[in-house]
Amino acid sequence: MFVAAGAACENQAMSQPILVASWNGGPATARAAERHLAGVPLLDAIVEGITLIEDDPDEMSVGYGGLPNEEGEVELDAAVMDGPLHKGGAVAGLRRVRHAARLALEVLRRTDHALLVGEGAARFARQLGFHEENLLTPKARDAWLAWKADLSPRDAWLSPNEQTTGFGGALWAGHHANPTPGGPPPASHAPRPGESGGAPRAPFTFGTVHASGLDVRGDLFSCTSTSGLSYKIPGRVGDSPILGSGLYTDNTVGSAGCTGRGEASMQSCAAFQTVALMEAGRTPTEAATETLRRIAARTREARLLRTGGAPAFNVTVYAVRKDGQTGAASMHEGYQYVVQRGREQRVERCAFVYSA
Ligand code: GLY
Repeated sequence: MFVAAGAACENQAMSQPILVASWNGGPATARAAERHLAGVPLLDAIVEGITLIEDDPDEMSVGYGGLPNEEGEVELDAAVMDGPLHKGGAVAGLRRVRHAARLALEVLRRTDHALLVGEGAARFARQLGFHEENLLTPKARDAWLAWKADLSPRDAWLSPNEQTTGFGGALWAGHHANPTPGGPPPASHAPRPGESGGAPRAPFTFGTVHASGLDVRGDLFSCTSTSGLSYKIPGRVGDSPILGSGLYTDNTVGSAGCTGRGEASMQSCAAFQTVALMEAGRTPTEAATETLRRIAARTREARLLRTGGAPAFNVTVYAVRKDGQTGAASMHEGYQYVVQRGREQRVERCAFVYSA
């Protein structure tokens, strides 16, 4: 193994955990650091932190309240990776169980398998006593209905401005949960960091939460959880539960994870690529940026390209190296990520391949 000058030796103990996460992972890394400093193994602590995000009904790209598939059913994907064991656990297409990351950890800990999907994953969850529920919140249902209404002017679903209430006003004023008939026009949906774009009315996301971390013993772990691409074809699985794509951890080198367009991450094995580049001596930021350059160079379909040749989508790559260096890069300018060192948390700007 080659690690850049200044990198720590394998298994060098750290006095505090170091984590890197997607922009929405702040509560997760804060909880993970706190629990790890209280003696909880870091992978369990990270999953506990990610559970907070999965429980948040306002986070529409992860867990409970995530945006559903095209049939209105929420399907979750998640994975964890344990560096010292060099073992991953994952679930995909999981319905009616909100804690996908915790279930992925159970796959890792209780089975000889790396990935359980669909009904098999749900049955595994039932066997372990996971709570089952409808994951579609009213807010996510409204978003899905707005998306259906916007699908085609030639179908039987009236678009929002064609719909009327008994009061003669618009039935649905944008993507917000509380329609305001006769009220002000809806604010347009501004994509947040981590999202890849905004449909005119319905929120739309490839959003995901990822965290990679180095524990006080110098061991590496990672977790990624998502509800996946909004309004996807049922059964579509993105990068998040795929080891090497949505996350990858090599305990001798570093750990990386991705958010954004999963198809792009999968087709370039983005997390694995980033760790391989760190092994070849790149810093986390250099490795993440080079991974994105390679994705851009291999994006050939015109529908995925802007005029001028830049990819029309975003991917963000997060990385932490064995020596505790952290970094992240996004395809386009303007994205942020979270760095947690012990109890101190900072939000930093991602490096980028294409300026705004
Ligand atoms: N990155 C999440 C997804 O594409 O499903």
